[in-house]
Amino acid sequence: MIHQAKSYIKFVRLSKNKHGVHSPFVYDLVTKCFNDKTKYPEYQILKSYRKTLLADPSTIEMKDFGQGSRVFKGTARKVAAVTKNAGMKKKRQKLLFRLGYYFMSENILEMGTSLGLGTAALSLSNKYAFVNTVEGCPNTAKIAGEYLKKFKLKNIHIHQETFKEYLSLHSEEKFDLIFIDGDHNGERTLGYFNSFLNNVHNDSVIIFDDIYWTKDMTEAWQKIIANEKVTLSIDTFQWGIVFFRKEQPKQHFTIRI
Ligand SMILES: C[S@@+](CC[C@H](N)C(=O)[O-])C[C@H]1O[C@@H](n2cnc3c(N)ncnc32)[C@H](O)[C@@H]1O
Repeated sequence: MIHQAKSYIKFVRLSKNKHGVHSPFVYDLVTKCFNDKTKYPEYQILKSYRKTLLADPSTIEMKDFGQGSRVFKGTARKVAAVTKNAGMKKKRQKLLFRLGYYFMSENILEMGTSLGLGTAALSLSNKYAFVNTVEGCPNTAKIAGEYLKKFKLKNIHIHQETFKEYLSLHSEEKFDLIFIDGDHNGERTLGYFNSFLNNVHNDSVIIFDDIYWTKDMTEAWQKIIANEKVTLSIDTFQWGIVFFRKEQPKQHFTIRI
């Protein structure tokens, strides 16, 4: 918590809006995607998806993966409470939708499905999108599958396995967009990143959630942006976003959304 507070103060001091951005690629991304105020009709579907989960009174046994929860004790959890506490926030869910839409990402990978809030956003982002999403907990994956089906989101494959298992089986597949939203452990996040270097192409984007969750996550983020294959990195505080565009000189931006 202290690490997050200190990091946030530093972030605010360093961060810029569109006026401080001297890269045409990043300027366009900020103005046409981050700051896009269009009320997309898909936002209504996302709202209704969240509302339905929040009204679900059932309790499920959840197997904890990754770093566990700072909110929940025990393994019996209410679907509504998981949606509220562990699920992606509305603002970020819309931004994730816009990122998929802006980049027209087709082959998408999400690490950490939970109840499918991010999955739904990615699924709706582009009619050509196909979303692979990985969730270790069998009961969580099952509920997510049921809800995604209920909302007729069909361009999705939920892989019920650990991140490590998934990566060992898909080391050659190329993804346009990868969203890492689970297992917020610095060493393992760095390991996932190194493994993803085989899964990216020149125009891929990787989004890391919670880069200031702990000191070791921030250290991992620093190592990721220093990697020679990463040419462009953007710190938005909650998310760290990296690109591999060879035509781009190596640059780092700190941007308030
Ligand atoms: C923060 S939640 C994901 C939130 C989700 N993306 C959303 O949009 O609401 C993280 C999820 O990742 C799963 N997870 C964490 N570490 C994992 C691992 N090593 N293997 C498989 N699943 C994992 C957890 O079970 C949890 O459901």
